[in-house]
Amino acid sequence: HHHGRRAARGLRFTPVPPNTADAVTVPPGYRQQVVLRWGEPILRGAPAFDPDRQTARAQAGQFGYNNDYLTLLDLPGERGRQVMVANHEYTNEELMFAGYDPENPTREQVEIAWAAHGLSVVVVDEERRGGALTPVTRHRLNRRITATTPFRVTGPAAGSRLLRTSADPKGTTVLGTLNNCAGGTTPWGTVLSGEENFNQYFGNADAVTDPETTARLARYGITDAVSERKWERFDRRFDLGREPNEANRFGYVIELDPYDPDSVPRKRTALGRFKHEAAQPRLTRDGRPVVYMGDDERFDYFYKFVSNKRMMRGHSRAAREHNLTLLDEGALYVARLTGDSPASEIDGSGKLPRDGEFDGSGEWIKLAEGDTSYVPGMTAEEVYVFTRLAADKMGATKMDRPEDVEPSPRTGRVYIALTNNKERGLAGKAPADEANPRNENKHGQVLELTERRNDPTAERFAWRLFLVCGDPEDPGTYYAGFPKDKVSPISCPDNITFDAYGNLWLSTDGNALGSHDGLFGVADHGRNEGEVRQFLTVPAGAETCGPVVQEKRVLVCVQHPGEVDGATVENPASAWPDGPGKIVRPSVVCVWRADGGAIGV
Ligand code: FEO
Ligand code: CA
Ligand code: CA
Ligand code: CA
Repeated sequence: HHHGRRAARGLRFTPVPPNTADAVTVPPGYRQQVVLRWGEPILRGAPAFDPDRQTARAQAGQFGYNNDYLTLLDLPGERGRQVMVANHEYTNEELMFAGYDPENPTREQVEIAWAAHGLSVVVVDEERRGGALTPVTRHRLNRRITATTPFRVTGPAAGSRLLRTSADPKGTTVLGTLNNCAGGTTPWGTVLSGEENFNQYFGNADAVTDPETTARLARYGITDAVSERKWERFDRRFDLGREPNEANRFGYVIELDPYDPDSVPRKRTALGRFKHEAAQPRLTRDGRPVVYMGDDERFDYFYKFVSNKRMMRGHSRAAREHNLTLLDEGALYVARLTGDSPASEIDGSGKLPRDGEFDGSGEWIKLAEGDTSYVPGMTAEEVYVFTRLAADKMGATKMDRPEDVEPSPRTGRVYIALTNNKERGLAGKAPADEANPRNENKHGQVLELTERRNDPTAERFAWRLFLVCGDPEDPGTYYAGFPKDKVSPISCPDNITFDAYGNLWLSTDGNALGSHDGLFGVADHGRNEGEVRQFLTVPAGAETCGPVVQEKRVLVCVQHPGEVDGATVENPASAWPDGPGKIVRPSVVCVWRADGGAIGV
């Protein structure tokens, strides 16, 4: 497996071949363990998981469903422990409840689903030898955030008329967070989480009579008379005919202080409202956070927020209070990209243009800063609440589903996972361009963005495609120029993280090459640049999420295992993690080297 040259430090493991095993498969010499499964009790008083007798009350004290983003933070003062925070993006009722009738959910089932959404905070113990992690149940920091937890709305759109409802006439307090996909971890010790496909929770859109409201809802994909889960039957706030503004209160980046279990989490309107995938900050030289963000929808955009305020160092109460205001004041930008090759050389197949690269320049278009709008015909509040419409007006570049957007902590270069876009180039849709060079794009690409002078506040940048994913034998793929007969095939990149050596790690969602999804490491600089190496695969129907790469362990969230058309509790498509006859459970998995050594060295 050495192919005549050594892999990059941190990626020296035997790559896992593409496969469809109903298991988490890892390189030889590595061990794995399920850290935490859906339904395991984490709060004081929560009962053991019993899928046949599940209740909303039990679920509210147990680990939620469909873990997506995952992060581990230091726990000062408690040796050998870390604070784990996980997102619970959505629920698969057909895999949670035996005999589930999608036309007639019961109130208990709906309330279980509310309690299974949100986030979990769980302290974990590191095993002295080896990489295993054990949840510390009932730790004082353990916490569940659900679809009914109160949030404070902050930033320039807080209290806006657009956010007021009959239950919250001030427009400042929202119950719950929904569809928390990926996220970010701030240098001041908080966790960010993106509210992504919130459209699916709202019904009766056809009862809205005001055409402007209908158009705004439609731009966010809210058009259905009946929602998938029928929540509008159980709580009027999900009924748009009664509460047309409730949907305007979802679609934000939320911020949670995991060190204060009594803190009220915030919804940060200054970061705009769209199908937020994730939010990962980088600090400017003078200590202000810049947050990069993707809107995961075909032909939607990527954004950045530049704060006006500097982070205070340290963990004093004053510092913590100050730092919780950093994401409320600043400027919101959207990206416009221009290719440097003639459009005639972009033929939609992924074949490289004559200059040998898909590359070009770009600009960050300012949409709003504080109470000032830069978008003609829209107030600042409208820009923050209907950000997609603002970006449409300003001519932002329509991308192939921007998922994670993350700056490398080592180089400052920003990587953007563009997962796929089967509609690129179809009649009436945007055709291939240099940044999105394939029509009916099944496999996605990874774009690398370099801010001018490597200054994250710059309004100009350069970019190139780092990977054009798919079968390496397909001439329409590109692995940063690395010999393609020596790479692991990758398809549908989604989540991004970095290891301590500066390598980029990518997890996938929707592999279209016949393998299950997985986790891949790739050097983003040096002689191994573009050498993609697969570290693991996940079970049937699952997506690989939340990768965390530490020196001695790799963690992933196995999300929606068994999610296959027609699968139910009675007719499962996966037996993971507990074997045949047991209910399928989304879970967090930890992988480490059997000999206790560092990952990939
Ligand atoms: Fe929830 Fe865009 O993945
Ligand atoms: Ca070019
Ligand atoms: Ca995702
Ligand atoms: Ca995804």
